[in-house]
Amino acid sequence: MNLKIALIVLLLYLSFGSTSCKKEELTEEEKEWEQDLHEYDTGNQGLKDHFNNIDYFDMGVAIPASFVDNTAKTALIKRHYNSITAENDMKWSSLQPQEGSFNYTNADKIVSFAAANGIKIRGHCLCWHNQVPDWVFKDGTALATKEQILERLHTHITTVMTRYKGKVYAWDVVNEAIDDGSRTYRPSQWYSMCGEDYIIEAFRAAREADPDALLFYNDYSTIVPAKRDKIYDLAVKLKAENLIDGLGLQGHWSISFPSDDLIKQALDKFKSLGLQIQITEMDVSVYPSPSDPESEYTAEVEQQLTAAYDRFFTAFRSYSDVITSVTFWGLADDKTWLDNFPVAGRKNYPLLFDTGLRPKKAYFEITDF
Ligand code: G3I
Repeated sequence: MNLKIALIVLLLYLSFGSTSCKKEELTEEEKEWEQDLHEYDTGNQGLKDHFNNIDYFDMGVAIPASFVDNTAKTALIKRHYNSITAENDMKWSSLQPQEGSFNYTNADKIVSFAAANGIKIRGHCLCWHNQVPDWVFKDGTALATKEQILERLHTHITTVMTRYKGKVYAWDVVNEAIDDGSRTYRPSQWYSMCGEDYIIEAFRAAREADPDALLFYNDYSTIVPAKRDKIYDLAVKLKAENLIDGLGLQGHWSISFPSDDLIKQALDKFKSLGLQIQITEMDVSVYPSPSDPESEYTAEVEQQLTAAYDRFFTAFRSYSDVITSVTFWGLADDKTWLDNFPVAGRKNYPLLFDTGLRPKKAYFEITDF
């Protein structure tokens, strides 16, 4: 009997005594982290509340249609985001894989989920060199003519935008048409067969199909001066014909790039256009160099990621007069395109939520202002 009591006392000591001991050992930083998590778990505020679109901007996320069937993921989306982009399901090869044969199943699924939850949709993307079927540039086994290609472009844009009129508020009309090197335009099939006319025609068709939709040109490396200036020149040209409403800056950045100066120079330059700016594909690679080998996600790396996110969002908030939306290219670290780019199978941790959908330190950092 006495032994039983002694055992119970020992167990009580081990569970309560050791916990209180452990609590006393927590550093200030650990206590703050526990407090942050406690407030997160007991509260219901999300990114969209912190960055409310009146003072700051919409907060968006890119998702595949399959997420709509996942309760944990939809709960996270509904808590944090007031804008959704289809990661792949509104691209040409998804919507019109064969000429005249449109498949809206996945895109509709995302649009219905967004509508049912009062979430806006950014359309992505109507004309791109990637994820566009070969038939667009072919006539049987021969090459199609410029006229044929432009007509197909017109038909695709008109059909898709008409279907989603009033549901998709903004479209990336042309994606990644500017060259990374010394050329002005990327030597894509679009460009080599149509010259820059395809860009103008895409925007004309989009304006005509839904005059109320906001039309964007979207690209990456927009803060790199040489590319930035070419994007600026294209925007000037499109704006002169009232064909563009905004620039989409993708934001596939890393823990060490870009610098505050480069961000500021780009945002100042784009702001002078008098167009909206949206950050359309935000993620922050934990690998400073594209060829870095896979490494563990250590506390030190997490700290670097947190610091980078802090820098980027401090900049975005200071341009909130022109930045109208910031979209993350992925929901959480369990599924990111960066796991397979630029190195196939190299695990990356570029988002605000971890592989278990829990908020990371970067989440608390950017919402603490
Ligand atoms: O749908 C097939 C599936 O049937 C097949 O089993 C699977 C096997 O690999 O592939 C699936 O297709 C993949 C598709 O994503 C859907 O997951 C493609 O291989 C893969 O190449 C494709 O990658 C997408 C990439 O665009 C294509 O260039 C990424 O998910 C998507 O995040 C990425 O998004 C682009 C933006 O649209 C534009 N800016 C850059 C950004 C990142 O590349």
